[in-house]
Amino acid sequence: MFQNHKIANDIYYVGVNDRQKHKFENMLPLPNGVSYNAYLIMDEKTALIDTVELAFGDVFVNKIQSQLGDKKLDYLIINHMEPDHSGAIRLIRQYYPEIILVGNSKTLAMVEGFYGIDDNVLEVNDGGELSLGSHTLQFYLTPMVHWPETMMTYDVKERVLFSGDAFGCFGNLDGAVIDKDLDVNKYWDEMIRYYANIVGKYGSAVQKALLKLTPLDFEIICSTHGPIWKKHISEVVDVYDQLSRYNAKEGVVIIYGSMYGNTELMAEIVAQGVAQSGVKNIIVHNVSKSDPSEIIRDIFKYNGLIVGSPTYCNELYPEVESLLRKIEIRQVKNRYFGYFGSFTWAGAAVKRLETFVQTMKWITPDFAVEEKQGLKEDNYHACMYLGKKIGEMAKTPIVVEPHCV
Ligand code: FEO
Repeated sequence: MFQNHKIANDIYYVGVNDRQKHKFENMLPLPNGVSYNAYLIMDEKTALIDTVELAFGDVFVNKIQSQLGDKKLDYLIINHMEPDHSGAIRLIRQYYPEIILVGNSKTLAMVEGFYGIDDNVLEVNDGGELSLGSHTLQFYLTPMVHWPETMMTYDVKERVLFSGDAFGCFGNLDGAVIDKDLDVNKYWDEMIRYYANIVGKYGSAVQKALLKLTPLDFEIICSTHGPIWKKHISEVVDVYDQLSRYNAKEGVVIIYGSMYGNTELMAEIVAQGVAQSGVKNIIVHNVSKSDPSEIIRDIFKYNGLIVGSPTYCNELYPEVESLLRKIEIRQVKNRYFGYFGSFTWAGAAVKRLETFVQTMKWITPDFAVEEKQGLKEDNYHACMYLGKKIGEMAKTPIVVEPHCV
């Protein structure tokens, strides 16, 4: 019944859109949904590249059956074991009991651990090959992008790289699946949000993977999420290269927590100061309102960051503290950082922010702004100066060379 999208000679898209889930990993909002991409190679032997989340198993199997007709399904190549891609493995085995599961040693250990399967498996090593007839598949282990077992599969004949989550993004595939047939503008920010929140900690592993992929002359990237990249390959690889080096554009993100508006007012003045520096990219987030995944996205996007917090129970405002942990976990490198805070009877927020910037080893001016109770004229000017100072600093890029993270 299904007419699957043809990606290249003998290669078909059999993935699905998820327009039902509200939050990816129960954390990250999906305003435009997400696709779980899988691919089928039709040769003398047939190979399925990855599966989809189990909830979509019925449509998935129907798509595969439509393409296979009377042919057997010989192999399932498992590039990544996270359940949004491995969730339908048992279902596929029910329909195709003789199928051979192909993965590296870490993959196969997880196949047994998650699904209790230890038969009909084929272990492959880094650089190993599998012939399907006229198509040869090569396997490249890319550990920690962003799980230990992650690998990529390269179709030598059609120059197609099946990259797993790498180069993926949030957002459904509405009607078409290849970038040249889609308005890709809506995907760029969602690629950064995806990267920053899911892969962000593993910049060094991504750089190693990019280095390994350099000799491959791939013409198509088939990720497990988002469009198939054909027309925009160089931009997509560049996005991953820049993000994994923690390189960022000129701009300043201002994040504040505020209970009654005093710290919020300081944030407004700081933003005005940044604008006086001439920097145009200024993003202000109220930490209690903006989604954390969008804040993290913007921190990956821009090279300047200013955080403001009131003192709360002799600590940071909890929402700000939570955000700092998210930044620390991702080990974001190379940012210009300013900070400010307010308190009513004893200040603690600014001290904690000072500790934070020392931990992150970021570049910070030799002053912060701290106000007792309502904002007064001297600190009004200090907030303006802080914003202007970070804006001026942000005009000098901090560039890290490729593969040096
Ligand atoms: Fe799309 Fe790491 O799972």
